[in-house]
Amino acid sequence: MRMRAAVLEQFGAPLAVQEIDLADPKAGEVLVRLVACGVCHTDMYTASGADPSGYAPAVLGHEGAGVVEAIGEGVKDVKAGDHVVTLFSPQCRECVHCLSPRTNLCMAIREQQNKGYLPDGTPRLSRGGEPIRHFMGTSTFAEYTVIPEIALAKVSPEAPLDRACLFACGLSTGLGAAMYTAKVEAGSTCVVFGAGMVGLGAVAGARLQGAERIICVDLSEDRLDLARGQGATDTWIAGEDIVQRILDETGGFGADYTFEATGLVHVMRQAVESARMGWGLCTVAGVAGKGETLDVVPRLLITGRRVAGSSFGGVKGRDQVPQLVQRYLDGDIDVDPFVSHKITLDDVNRGFELMHAQDGIRSVIDF
Ligand SMILES: NC(=O)c1ccc[n+]([C@@H]2O[C@H](COP(=O)([O-])OP(=O)(O)OC[C@H]3O[C@@H](n4cnc5c(N)ncnc54)[C@H](O)[C@@H]3O)[C@@H](O)[C@H]2O)c1
Ligand SMILES: [Zn+2]
Ligand SMILES: [Zn+2]
Repeated sequence: MRMRAAVLEQFGAPLAVQEIDLADPKAGEVLVRLVACGVCHTDMYTASGADPSGYAPAVLGHEGAGVVEAIGEGVKDVKAGDHVVTLFSPQCRECVHCLSPRTNLCMAIREQQNKGYLPDGTPRLSRGGEPIRHFMGTSTFAEYTVIPEIALAKVSPEAPLDRACLFACGLSTGLGAAMYTAKVEAGSTCVVFGAGMVGLGAVAGARLQGAERIICVDLSEDRLDLARGQGATDTWIAGEDIVQRILDETGGFGADYTFEATGLVHVMRQAVESARMGWGLCTVAGVAGKGETLDVVPRLLITGRRVAGSSFGGVKGRDQVPQLVQRYLDGDIDVDPFVSHKITLDDVNRGFELMHAQDGIRSVIDF
């Protein structure tokens, strides 16, 4: 079929919206009609050429939600008409990682996905017979996508898809960092560094877990306002003295849980240093620049602080994204404030500009 899609032709140049071809789903694959898609940092990072593993031409986009149009042979868990959220982090339910409760890093299709292909090693995207590669296994800056069944979460049809799409990446990453990676305990003190989509999700996740005190730190007053709306009890402007301030306000010990959601290694260090002696857990969700390293004084670890990384919030997508969306429908998560701009596919490059200018939390493409 023919469809419109935003193609990364050349690094550093705007995406080119154009008609391309999409082949039918093969065995285990699903054709999805996109209804909404958020514009995330990873899309912009790859488009800029800064991502060393990037490739072109490719159709970007990974924060998608839509409706199943058709299924390939052997697909069992979804059918035409189902509402789905795309999963750049799939869940096969069979690999050694899926069978362990300790990680969400499914191994089933990783290698081909990283190369830009579907699991059989070929793309479904093309133009004039020339292949175009998939991005993050999702390629949701397009009217339609073909995606493996194991990379789709079936969500309640009651959830508006322009809200549900945020659960495909940023929001679930933040919520999950608090709920599934750190497993915040009720009554605890949490500090969240960064109040973008991921940090705000972590604030909400800490609140859902029953944290007593949630301190959010950011450079922007506007974003700290949003953090209060998600349940932050204290909001502080970032600065060099922030670690000392956290220690001062926690009896000299530090916070039970800290979360880093900025991608800046000096903030990651602050998050480690402000975790509590004895049992403080620092969860790193931000993606640092290529070659950057995290500097930690080992004594901090010997005296009981721990550091954990979190990819997609530790969320096992097919099982847990539907649960998170249900909590939104139940009124436990306020998603509306995150959707700052609604744009068309043709405006996708404006979505990047708005993100670059930190104008709002998320631009969502309405197809
Ligand atoms: N682990 C994952 O699976 C995953 C998924 C999505 C995004 N990410 C990463 O998470 C990070 C955050 O994503 P986002 O969409 O929320 O980004 P964002 O840019 O919207 O938010 C980052 C926030 O950090 C704030 N900040 C900057 N300097 C700061 C400082 N010194 N102290 C405290 N806050 C500071 C900024 O003001 C901004 O509000 C990025 O690195 C992104 O790549 C990771
Ligand atoms: Zn993302
Ligand atoms: Zn798996």
